[in-house]
Amino acid sequence: MKKRDLLTLSDVSRTEIDQIFSVARRLKRDQKRGVSHLLLSGSTLALLFEKPSLRTRVSFETGMAQLGGHAVFLGPDEVQLGVRESPSDCARSLSRWVDVIVVRTFSQGVLEEIAGSASVPVINGLTDLHHPCQVLADCFTLLEHKGKLDGLKIAFVGDGNNMVHSWMQAAVKFPFSFVVACPKGYEPDAEITRSAKESGGRIQITRRVEEAVRGADVLYTDVWTSMGQESEAEIRRKAFKGYQLDEALVAMADRHAVVMHCLPAHRGEEITHEVLESPRSIVFDQAENRLHVQKAILVWMLKGTKGSRSKKT
Ligand code: CP
Ligand code: NVA
Repeated sequence: MKKRDLLTLSDVSRTEIDQIFSVARRLKRDQKRGVSHLLLSGSTLALLFEKPSLRTRVSFETGMAQLGGHAVFLGPDEVQLGVRESPSDCARSLSRWVDVIVVRTFSQGVLEEIAGSASVPVINGLTDLHHPCQVLADCFTLLEHKGKLDGLKIAFVGDGNNMVHSWMQAAVKFPFSFVVACPKGYEPDAEITRSAKESGGRIQITRRVEEAVRGADVLYTDVWTSMGQESEAEIRRKAFKGYQLDEALVAMADRHAVVMHCLPAHRGEEITHEVLESPRSIVFDQAENRLHVQKAILVWMLKGTKGSRSKKT
């Protein structure tokens, strides 16, 4: 089986996403019934992380354990990518021991270098440009809550960051409309936007928050200052004034609208405490589904989706 990487959502087709979701649905249902599937028994995952993490780290480590495998976490101080060792040498060494590598790093280029040198599959656990695992889990969560993705209006309020880039790529796979409201100078990457629009994504970028949220089925936001941009926090707080997801904005959305956030959240900045804690908020369902969807991604990569039909254990 040829190795598959997941560096951006362009690496998976709609059919493959549907297959991954179907495995995730079954793994989630069975886990809640106390039925385990040791599909990755004897397999090892390396987590190579240059940025902090709660959800990504714990969901991958736990997921691997639930599938009968094992995970090794390597933080920034251990490997010192590009300082102690080149990304390529690190990838080639890891490939001799482990079966799959999850990377959280700054540059998409470093991720690509690791994937190009590794002989085992590589998964993007977040870069400055993309966060595909989060958006796959978010789409899965929306399917649970709304029963469909087709035809939804998804409004993203805030920074045109890694989350927005992965959402725009998801808009190429699913026929929902994706509207981003962001201040001038904080638009998503022009090339990723162009490519997603040319590939059929129904994407709109506006400065007018009201235009984005009016009638929306989904209200999504993320931090104004992403990991690695901490020195810009003060400037960003000023630039994003007026882009806070608050109750007034929620009131303009569809009356059945849900509120989403990838977390961690900065209450009082991009979202109010009241909105984050409101009954519309599905943020912890999103967090939970990281586990189920990533387990399905690991099974798809290491066994193919047919591997998931093995006997219950
Ligand atoms: N949403 C997300 O990726 O969370 P962590 O940064 O905690 O992994
Ligand atoms: N945009 C955020 C997402 C965190 C999950 C960041 O990159 O820090």
